[in-house]
Amino acid sequence: MGLSVVILAAGQGTRMRSSMPKVLHPIAGKPMLQHVIDTCKSLRADNIFVVYGHGGDQVQQAINDDSIQWVKQEQQLGTGHAVAQVKPFLNDQDKVLILYGDVPLIHHDTLFELLEIQPAGGISLLTNILDDPTGYGRIVRDDDNRVIGIVEQKDANSHQLLINEVNTGILAASSAELKGWLGQLSSDNAQGEFYLTDVIGFAANDQREIVTASPNNSNEVEGVNNRQQLAALERAYQLQCAQVLLEGGVTLLDPYRFDLRGKVTIDPDVTLDVNVIIEGTVVIESGAYIGANCVLKDCHIGKNTLVKPNSVIEQAVVGSDCTIGPFARLRPDTVLHNDAHIGNFVEVKKSTIGSGSKVNHLAYIGDSEIGQRVNVGAGTITCNYDGANKHKTIIKDGAFIGSDSQLVAPVTIGFNATIGAGSTIAKDVSDDVLCITRVKQKEIPGWQRPVKSK
Ligand code: UD1
Ligand code: CA
Repeated sequence: MGLSVVILAAGQGTRMRSSMPKVLHPIAGKPMLQHVIDTCKSLRADNIFVVYGHGGDQVQQAINDDSIQWVKQEQQLGTGHAVAQVKPFLNDQDKVLILYGDVPLIHHDTLFELLEIQPAGGISLLTNILDDPTGYGRIVRDDDNRVIGIVEQKDANSHQLLINEVNTGILAASSAELKGWLGQLSSDNAQGEFYLTDVIGFAANDQREIVTASPNNSNEVEGVNNRQQLAALERAYQLQCAQVLLEGGVTLLDPYRFDLRGKVTIDPDVTLDVNVIIEGTVVIESGAYIGANCVLKDCHIGKNTLVKPNSVIEQAVVGSDCTIGPFARLRPDTVLHNDAHIGNFVEVKKSTIGSGSKVNHLAYIGDSEIGQRVNVGAGTITCNYDGANKHKTIIKDGAFIGSDSQLVAPVTIGFNATIGAGSTIAKDVSDDVLCITRVKQKEIPGWQRPVKSK
């Protein structure tokens, strides 16, 4: 017996007021639909069917996942009609789980339980108790508290409208039975739609067992119809991510001002100041401190490294005991060895900085290999690009690059060499020398400044 999941994603999402299909709108940087798909994978689903309609090409391109079987619903005639599109592809022996592309935070544990309790030949249904059930389908029970049907808001009588147990839409059923019930659906109701919810009544009529479960957290079953709801779920999700880090021994100075858009591994005793954004895959080792407003993407930050505020680090590997920023930018393929210092307004790209080396102020280091204990003065620029090709700059251990120097690549600066401030170095420099290219200073006594001609 396998598990087939049907994800409904054919709705238009008009209230998003977007040219992008609703299910592609991201939560934590990832399309809502992808969240649901990833949860299905965590359940080890054998088949994942996505029922699409509006913006189908765009959705398939954006999701581009071989494990998905795409099923088109040409016209949106209701949730029951949407699930019925998958009927030909469902194995009679399977369990079928119905999910929604715009209900992104549904959790593995909740679904795992729902599948566990699904009675053979019957249905397990995820319901929720709400103070204000307006708009939702109501769960109708008999005197023995058995579920006998679901009635939609628009079809409910005044008595049923008082029921505050609502349908989340999420359910698990046995495939063969579900297919039979889908075949019985009609659109004879207030909205003229084929309601998936009617299968509950059919199952009850067939004396099949219908059991219910509820989510651990209400936001798991909240759908997104507009940008307000999208923003609310984004914050809810981010707060959950923050809680996990706090439990793991990370200090977040404000868990409400932390954003994770990817995966992060953070050791205990790391501190994140406010407004840190983490994207892609990031590892931060113990004792590191990430200052306010830093963006870390696909990078590794070593032990006890201090990243001062407003620094942006992308695809870089940073060793331990380094100091970075404030206002530093580490671009892809940068490697900082232990105890390296990168200061304010310094950009480093595709370069290695050896341990104990310092690039502290206003510099550009690109395509470079810098050894150990090198000091790169303020305003130093590696001229790595000749307009057509990139070239390498090599600076050996112990070298000292005076302020405002230009190193025109390809060029090598020798061990312990000293470059005088303001030099333009276009040829290799030997070990242990002072090299200086600036014009000799001269004085012109009694110099008269020009005066304005009237
Ligand atoms: C549905 C349930 C209602 C439940 C509520 C929970 C039905 C008849 N009603 O109502 O009991 O309380 O969800 O939010 O199922 N969709 C398609 N194709 C269609 C129609 C819908 O793919 O033809 C998708 C939509 O994109 C959406 C989902 O199904 O993701 C739900 O559809 P929607 O019309 O919003 O259902 P509700 O009226 O909210
Ligand atoms: Ca509707």
